[in-house]
Amino acid sequence: MSRFSYPAFPNSWFQVAWSDELAIGEVKPLHYFGRDLVAFRGEDSVVHVLDAHCPHLGANLAMGGKVVGNNVQCPFHGWCFDGEGKCTSIPYTTKIPHKAKVNNWPVREANGIITVYFHAAGKSPNFEIPVIKGDDGEDLIVHEKMKWRVHCRSRDLVENLVDPVHIKFLHGNTVIPEATFAWGDYSFDIHTIGKEIVGEQEIEGRTHFSIWGAGCLILNIWSEGQKLPFVTCNYMSPVDEEYVDFYMSLLSDKAVDETTKQIISSCSEKWKSGAEEDIIIWNHKISPERPILCEGDGPIMQFRRWYSQFFISELVDKDSFNIAEPVAVL
Ligand code: FES
Ligand SMILES: [Fe+2]
Repeated sequence: MSRFSYPAFPNSWFQVAWSDELAIGEVKPLHYFGRDLVAFRGEDSVVHVLDAHCPHLGANLAMGGKVVGNNVQCPFHGWCFDGEGKCTSIPYTTKIPHKAKVNNWPVREANGIITVYFHAAGKSPNFEIPVIKGDDGEDLIVHEKMKWRVHCRSRDLVENLVDPVHIKFLHGNTVIPEATFAWGDYSFDIHTIGKEIVGEQEIEGRTHFSIWGAGCLILNIWSEGQKLPFVTCNYMSPVDEEYVDFYMSLLSDKAVDETTKQIISSCSEKWKSGAEEDIIIWNHKISPERPILCEGDGPIMQFRRWYSQFFISELVDKDSFNIAEPVAVL
């Protein structure tokens, strides 16, 4: 029996690679949403993601396929497919069968991250993940990256954010952070205020987590009122019914000084050990649909209700979708 009573693949944007993993002219095999996919970057630098299997005789386009112009060429008999998945040439005929097409996936590339939109009914995206900008208005870039394959589903990873109690108990913080929650159409915001004892000193830390869609999390932090000079961007991308890839990127301005580099690198070490504590839980937990909750727990059920919009297989008329009013729980 499955450990989970909800679907493995919510409708949302999910990271499938970092930009620097796909150079111009490169082809990369991917496996997400229980499917084999092929990513390629054409000579115009644009990234495309298609279903991996060629409609001719079924070769995997990512296994030996090549980029030709802005197309990917199948390694078996040389058929070429453009970013839309349409067959554009066959080396031994000019008669291209009109059904010669592979499914293409909506792709975005920003902040050094490549994302793909999954929809159970193949619908177009109905929201976008915001591009993360610096104070100068320029896009932030990736300075530190980490990735784990976790034996769990996306919702359980994201649900961690509405569970402030575990921050003290599992991660060993001095106090349970005070948290407030508010949610809207495609995003869910969590603000926390916590205290940390560092040596003899008590440090006040504030965080703002924004969950975007079903598997993206953007985190900003203030320590003693001072904003830390980076933004953390996580994705929880479903690999198949059993596993998710947990991506973590620490983003900052393109040019950073030595002090900033050190802050980013020491926070990334801290995030890494925190994530590893969560991963032990995620790898083995179940997800009871009717958990026994008590006073002091976060708004787990309100969160799940908000999240359930990503399991609807048709595009939703938002006026007819009754999202609960935001509440402050703690
Ligand atoms: S299987 Fe792809 S060209 Fe023949
Ligand atoms: Fe955690």
